[in-house]
Amino acid sequence: MASLAQKLTEIVGAAFAAEGLSAELGLVRVSDRPDLCQFQCNGAMAAAKAAKKNPREIAQTLVQALQDHPALARIEIAGPGFINLDVTDAFLAAHIKSNADSDTLGVEPVGAGRTIVLDYGGPNIAKPMHVGHLRSSIIGDSLRRICAFAGYRAIGDVHMGDWGTPMGQILSELEARGRLGQPVTMDELEEIYPAASRACKEDENRAEQARAATVKLQDGDPVYRAAWQQFIDVSIAGMKENFDALGVHFDLWKGESDVHERIAPMVETLKTAGLAVESEGAVVVPVAREDDKKEMPPLILYKRDGAVMYGTTDLATVADRVEAFSPAAILYVVDQRQSLHFEQVFRAARVTAIAPEEQVELTHAGFGTMNGQDGKPFKTRAGGVMKLQDLIAMAVEKAQARLEEADLAADMDQAERDDVAHKVAVAALKFADLHNNRVADYVFDIDRMTRFEGKTGPYLLYQAVRINSLLNKAKGAGLDVPENPTFAIKAEDRALALALAEFPDHFRLALENYTPHVLCDYAYKLAQDFSSFYGACHILSEEDEQLRASRLSLCALTYRQLVLILGLLGIQVPARM
Ligand code: ARG
Repeated sequence: MASLAQKLTEIVGAAFAAEGLSAELGLVRVSDRPDLCQFQCNGAMAAAKAAKKNPREIAQTLVQALQDHPALARIEIAGPGFINLDVTDAFLAAHIKSNADSDTLGVEPVGAGRTIVLDYGGPNIAKPMHVGHLRSSIIGDSLRRICAFAGYRAIGDVHMGDWGTPMGQILSELEARGRLGQPVTMDELEEIYPAASRACKEDENRAEQARAATVKLQDGDPVYRAAWQQFIDVSIAGMKENFDALGVHFDLWKGESDVHERIAPMVETLKTAGLAVESEGAVVVPVAREDDKKEMPPLILYKRDGAVMYGTTDLATVADRVEAFSPAAILYVVDQRQSLHFEQVFRAARVTAIAPEEQVELTHAGFGTMNGQDGKPFKTRAGGVMKLQDLIAMAVEKAQARLEEADLAADMDQAERDDVAHKVAVAALKFADLHNNRVADYVFDIDRMTRFEGKTGPYLLYQAVRINSLLNKAKGAGLDVPENPTFAIKAEDRALALALAEFPDHFRLALENYTPHVLCDYAYKLAQDFSSFYGACHILSEEDEQLRASRLSLCALTYRQLVLILGLLGIQVPARM
């Protein structure tokens, strides 16, 4: 199964080949001037350059050759040698039909038989999650859904920060308070960790105790391990609540500590092989290359005091994942500011053959900062880091107000109203985050993202719900939405049908570049094309039975496609609103 643009590429590519030109030049894509044509091919220009000929002449030959092709309603030369194409309505209808008949709406299962591990979320034990973790979770979870839809075995791993110096700081704080061995709650932890971290900054003695406690914990001291396990369990319970509220899923709840046992043997092996070396008392893997433009520090495995680093656990985790899952790719959805760290880890994984290049792709899908209206990293009014749970609560409250303003929940009971408000809030938060190119910083604006107008999650939910209610109305009036649709495309239906046909192309781009924003843009366009269609066409009132059935089928397909795409973004559509 191929997209419409792919099918046309085949047709035009064959025509290029028949002229003795490279078939690759026949690449056809959706036109960027839909007012002029539906599709375009720019290959004649490149062909002319290579053959030192006039591009219009080459284009003319191709246009002539394809003039009577049954799929094409029109093929013309434009400007210096562009080829503009329109498909026939029958060809378009048949294509839409084949998408509608497919479980994946025309998407090819390119990931079938392959595994991808996605590393996102990355919360740190004992510290409340902040907005950076929000971005990682939202983008990572969407990418997991996208990969799974493409047929991959997609494994999401939360990779908690549960093994560094902060753990020792908490333990030594508990010890100082005489509380080691007594269970702590999440609320207590939220007070204990900042106090511990402050104490260590102010008092070199305390800092030393904390370092010693970290080493003791890592060496397996039973009292420390038990205390640590207790506050880990409490933290995880808190995190799960947050992630559940957001609808973010993880398959694995692993952390940095899970690879502890691997580290000593890994470092030994690397030392023996001469890949890890001593440098100023530390043990490092040199990763610099001769052609490096900027300085590339080595990856530190052991600090001078013997402590294990962030990069050590990450390198051991690569080994762990390769061994456990033989993945085709490992994807890290982590703040862009950690790009040097991942460059070092990836290079180390390559030079040590822990993850050979020809076996596993290693990608850091970085993201920009979520800023407040002042352009600085988003904070609470009081200037602190905004906690995830407070952020969700704030969005829910705003969503409730919006629903009331728009008079959308008047006839619902409280339970349904709460459920819808929650869905609107999550849609707002996720869409606002995902619709930006992930590497760009973006401004968090709760007012704007919760609106029912504009490019927002709530707008898309509202559109989807409207289509659903139209379909329900049709059913109520005894007008069946055909189980096995045939499409009759008229001029007024064409734009929507063409938009529906684009889905596999956008999906492919989102998958290849790990860019959910491509799907956001597309969902928004689809919703708008639906609005125009709805404004221009008779649907329920259409008297021609065949045309009415076709239009209802277009509505049903639009609904199915919108729900699917929103699902890939991690957004759930309420039944009504
Ligand atoms: N815990 C880290 C942080 O808060 C993020 C972890 C990202 N994943 C990784 N494999 N390093 O910055």
